[in-house]
Amino acid sequence: MKKSKEIKAGTMNVEKFIDNKVREIQEAVGEGIAINALSGGVDSSVVTALGHRALGKRLKTYFIDNGIMREKEPANVAAAFKKLGIQVEVLDASKAFFSALKGLTDPEEKREAITQTFYKNVFSKLVVKSKAKYLLQGTILTDVDETVAGIKRQHNVFEQLGIDPQKAFGYMILEPLIELRKDGVRKVGEGLGLPKSMFDRIPFPGPALSARVIGEVTPARIALVRKATAIVESVLKDTNAFQYLAILHEDRVTGMRNKKRVFGNQIEIRCWESIDARTATPTRLSFDILEGVAAKITKSIPDVVSVTYNITTKPTSTIEAV
Ligand code: XMP
Repeated sequence: MKKSKEIKAGTMNVEKFIDNKVREIQEAVGEGIAINALSGGVDSSVVTALGHRALGKRLKTYFIDNGIMREKEPANVAAAFKKLGIQVEVLDASKAFFSALKGLTDPEEKREAITQTFYKNVFSKLVVKSKAKYLLQGTILTDVDETVAGIKRQHNVFEQLGIDPQKAFGYMILEPLIELRKDGVRKVGEGLGLPKSMFDRIPFPGPALSARVIGEVTPARIALVRKATAIVESVLKDTNAFQYLAILHEDRVTGMRNKKRVFGNQIEIRCWESIDARTATPTRLSFDILEGVAAKITKSIPDVVSVTYNITTKPTSTIEAV
């Protein structure tokens, strides 16, 4: 199993890193065409900007709308990149993802369904159409570590798992950020001239909101966690925390609506202090903030009757729930 060396954010020479990676991408792709999928997260945004610096229009960037993204995410991300002179094509593939997720409750099976739908169903077809032989991907060292350690099967690490992507999917994967952790990736984003809102964005997982739905992922359950996510992100955006999120639980609990007992949903809020996502501690949010966010969620989402806050460190918890 291949393990890349680590380049630490504190000691890295950002300019040199960018120059080296631009050259490596240019050498690998030659006169050909590369393709990449942008999710709007920090890693994929940075790799998109890096790839465009190396290849210009010979890098085709797609935003695959899998239906499990945050509120207005596809349009917002495409608009932000347009401002940078980078054309992003948005493709609605939500039906394919929801049908693959139907009936699945096991976390690894859900991740696998997303991986397979993404690569085999949607992305490989785009690759064939674009005639690209190279796929640029924003895998980082933490993804590799956690996959190797068996903590989680990240969606983007075929090579580390010993799967030959050329054989499995017909194309080669380039991973220029694989020696970096999140703090290093942010520095590269800054060095590439991305706006702070892009490189300093809180991390967001590849499996998107399905990493935050315990149990079956349906359009209705995604819509619910999406609303809760929007509220949590807007209330906690000034906390300076590493990451904050809302999780929809599978179990229902008894609550009260209009003086009647109802069996409603529960949302768990998590807010993390971390440097590189390998370990994390819960942010000591004030009770005023916590009560405020709970009140907003139960007011805006009638199906939710209970809101909790996670007070466990990683480990034993992980940052996401699935
Ligand atoms: P966990 O939940 O493993 O998350 O403690 C660690 C960090 O990684 C993000 N995360 C992912 N990122 N693909 C990604 O690109 C994934 O499958 C994935 N799962 C988790 C998570 O948001 C956190 O920042």
